[in-house]
Amino acid sequence: MSLPRIAILASGTGTNAAAIIEAAQSGRLKAEINLVFSNRPDAKVLEKAAALHVPSVCLDHTHYPNRQSFDADMVRVLQEYQTDIVAMAGYMRLVTKEFLDVFPNRVLNIHPALLPAFKGVHALDDAQGYGVKMTGCTVHFVREAMDTGPIIIQGATPVMDGENPEETAARVHTLEHRLYPQALAWLLAGRLEQKGERHVFLHAAANSRPAEPCAFPHLIWPPLELPF
Ligand code: GRF
Repeated sequence: MSLPRIAILASGTGTNAAAIIEAAQSGRLKAEINLVFSNRPDAKVLEKAAALHVPSVCLDHTHYPNRQSFDADMVRVLQEYQTDIVAMAGYMRLVTKEFLDVFPNRVLNIHPALLPAFKGVHALDDAQGYGVKMTGCTVHFVREAMDTGPIIIQGATPVMDGENPEETAARVHTLEHRLYPQALAWLLAGRLEQKGERHVFLHAAANSRPAEPCAFPHLIWPPLELPF
C-alpha cells in the first residue's frame, strides 16, 4: 500500500523540513515526503532536500503578478506530485483561499510562539522583547488569516532570567522538531477531530506510550507519544 504523501513548503533554512524528512525516512512517520517546495531560489532548504534525496521545486514568487497566480501554479506542482498533505515549515507567505480549498484541513503550519500571542514573522523576538516568562511553539491547521487556525499541539519552555535569547530560541526549535512530526502522525492516523472552527480533539490510541521527555524544562500538550 502506498504511503500518504506530504509536501513541505519552506522559504528558509529548513531545519523543520529536515526533521520531518528524517522522521519519514526512519519510518517513525508513516508517510512519504514527496516534495520540498520553495518560493525562494536561494533557500537553504533546497540544499537540504537534495542532500536527503527528496525532490524539490522552486517557483520564484517575485515573477508572479499576484498571490492568486502564484498559488495556482503551486497547486499545479503539488498535484503533479500527488500531494495528500501540505506541511508549511518556515514558509514565509500567506496562502489563498483557492489554495486551501484544494487541501481542506490538510494544510498544517508551525509557528514559533504560543498562539494566539505573537503572530507574525518576528514572533520569537517579539515574545522575548515583551518579557514573557514562557515561550514556545504551536502546530495548527492553516486558515487564510496569518497564524490562525485550529491548534493541534503546543510546546512551552521558560525564558530564564539573564539567558541569551539565542539559547531560548534553540530550545523552541528543539521543541518544533519534535512537535511537527508528531502532529503530522496524528493527522495521518485519523486521530484529530475538529469541533467547530476552533477546537481539535486528539483521539486516544490503545497502543500509545509517552515519549522521552526533553532534556530541558518544558510542557507539551497534548503529550508526545513514542516514537516522537
Ligand atoms: C520556525 O521557527 C517555524 O516555527 C517558523 O519558521 C521557522 C523555520 O525554521 N514558521 P526552519 O527553516 O525550519 O529552520
